[in-house]
Amino acid sequence: MQPDVTPFFHQPTGTWTYVVADPASRLAAVIDPVLDYDWRSGRTGTATADAVLAHLESAALRLRWILETHAHADHLSSAPHLQSRAGGDIAIGEGIRQVQATFKRVFGLGAEFVPDGRQFDRLLADDDTLELGALAGRVVATPGHTSDSVSYLFGDALFVGDTVFMPDGGSARCDFPGGDAAELYRSVQRLYALPPETRVFVCHDYAPGGRAPACQTTIRSQREGNIHLKADTPEPDFVSLRQARDATLDVPNLIIPSVQVNIRAGRKPPPEPDGVSYLRVPLDVLGRPLPPPKH
Ligand SMILES: [Fe+2]
Repeated sequence: MQPDVTPFFHQPTGTWTYVVADPASRLAAVIDPVLDYDWRSGRTGTATADAVLAHLESAALRLRWILETHAHADHLSSAPHLQSRAGGDIAIGEGIRQVQATFKRVFGLGAEFVPDGRQFDRLLADDDTLELGALAGRVVATPGHTSDSVSYLFGDALFVGDTVFMPDGGSARCDFPGGDAAELYRSVQRLYALPPETRVFVCHDYAPGGRAPACQTTIRSQREGNIHLKADTPEPDFVSLRQARDATLDVPNLIIPSVQVNIRAGRKPPPEPDGVSYLRVPLDVLGRPLPPPKH
């Protein structure tokens, strides 16, 4: 049994969201749903998420899982909006605890924010199973871009998050706190050991060279053609290429709002006494290596 996969593209952030459905039971998982966000006004919107909900309804699918491949730094998650309308459990890799602890410090969050993963319905470990009717999804821990990064394998469809992009896009950056290029290399080796015909669905596409945005490739195409990491690329070559490239990259546009919301499983910070939720902007902290934690 192979899943039906329906992609949704969020142009402003280059993010792919997927609906994965078991054709027999009509159960579905949504992977990496996006919340619209306007940085200038601080206003959120659900038009993009509502298109996913409309698809679930028109295809008569029942939402079982809302899966994050990691706590994203480039877009806000709409997981709670989907859950409030269609149900399902929100899950992420168990490495989220480290990510939460790091960013609790970065954003100076108070005691109300407990970095133990409790904000999510389920924390996933390597090789965990996600039941989806006749399909048994498998969690593949793929740290490197972040410490909470996981990939999801449903039948022949692999959702790789930010590990590799389309072959002409290379690989994901490894310079966030908790990122590690050598670890990403080893994670990608695990993915490259899957059958060559495995369908690969990427989390982002920035359409290099002006081509149309794309989301689907295969393990074979990645092994043979990924511009950063082919099957025979030695680890030291990849690590030095990745680190050199990371040194040239700017901090993502939406890292400040995205991370604060996404470490709360997509929820806004608790409202202040005036009933409004506020985000924090740490001055002169992001964009250079973090100092070691003070105990
Ligand atoms: Fe990411």
